[in-house]
Amino acid sequence: MRRSPNLPMPRPAGFRPRFPFFLMSSVDVRADQRAPTLPHWRGLLEAYREWLPVTDATPVVTLHEGNTPLLPAPRLAERLGLQARVWLKLEGVNPTGSFKDRGMTLAMSKAVEEGKRAVICASTGNTSASAAAYARRAGLPCVVVVPEGNIALGKLAQAIAHQATVLAVQGNFDAALAVVRQIHERHPIELVNSLNPYRIEGQKTGAFEICDQLGRAPTHHFIPVGNAGNITAYWKGYREYAEAGRIEALPKMLGFQAAGAAPIVLGRPVPNPETFATAIRIGNPVSWRGAEAARDESGGLIEAVTDDEIADAYRRLAAEEGVFCEPASAAAVAGLLKKGREGWLAEEARRLGRLEIVAVLTGHGLKDPTSAIKRSPSPIVVPPAIDALMEHIRL
Ligand code: F0G
Repeated sequence: MRRSPNLPMPRPAGFRPRFPFFLMSSVDVRADQRAPTLPHWRGLLEAYREWLPVTDATPVVTLHEGNTPLLPAPRLAERLGLQARVWLKLEGVNPTGSFKDRGMTLAMSKAVEEGKRAVICASTGNTSASAAAYARRAGLPCVVVVPEGNIALGKLAQAIAHQATVLAVQGNFDAALAVVRQIHERHPIELVNSLNPYRIEGQKTGAFEICDQLGRAPTHHFIPVGNAGNITAYWKGYREYAEAGRIEALPKMLGFQAAGAAPIVLGRPVPNPETFATAIRIGNPVSWRGAEAARDESGGLIEAVTDDEIADAYRRLAAEEGVFCEPASAAAVAGLLKKGREGWLAEEARRLGRLEIVAVLTGHGLKDPTSAIKRSPSPIVVPPAIDALMEHIRL
């Protein structure tokens, strides 16, 4: 080990050097001894300040969200069998485990700036987890309204842990949102659903990050669609980067709804949406028009994937790529595999050459442990004896 004689050495008590170490080297290597200095990420409001409606007067409420990995998915790319690179944008790495933190940091900062005294949201779970955490950070009370029995356990745990007032309505997400909007209209409580324009503004930074990470825009952007705020936000982000000359081309936006909750695909609201991907169990999305604009302006599409296709993508991501996302997130990859199977992507590759595909994995798998466990074999119970264990270990 090279070490400068000038640096104090950590020594155990009673240590006596048996060798004059200071004679070993005359080179000052102190620089080698320093810990590497990592750039300090301070959240997306700081990183993308000039693109967002913040001023010096905006108190930044942050959990240092954003800067999430863009991870290559080589096995998925191989499965497509095309000239394609596939990237997963791991939004589950955000502080509360989903992309909602991008919009929440801005919505909560503006709520504080505007002197709001409390916040409220309706949610299939992730918005409520994020709102509850950021409200704690801001010191505001938070009310979350969720569909009874249809919120994943991890998300509920988060809202409770952050001391939100959790109200479970006897109805679905659409009913919860309708009543929350009425409360917002009549009472001085800020709405932090994606009806709040600051949510969309914050979420558009996902597109900025993808372009900054790739050095260009992807050719195809796969994304799950529920209330349709995120596809709207990503498209806004890509367009703004293109208008500013940061990227030369725009991606096609490819949105996927669960087949039992696919109002945009059907062209009409779905009164009783059903899917095991509870995050996108939504029958009448607020940003419906925004999603259609993203689809049409980008030359993309919005289609449905079945629960079986979602479950298959969910399993594959965990088993083949080592990435555990929640079921709704897997809808994007289910869509990718579907467009691969149909030959649609091969056609795109013929036209464009090499494809640069991004799928947004919107939330972490730990959000919904019930879905993970329900779809897998139970642990094998064995006595604590070597032979008993070895019976089940294949080497
Ligand atoms: N993926 C996850 C994990 C989500 O939580 C959501 C939405 C979506 C995808 C769809 O995004 O609504 O912008 O189209 N979750 C909302 C919530 C509805 O209340 O947490 P979207």
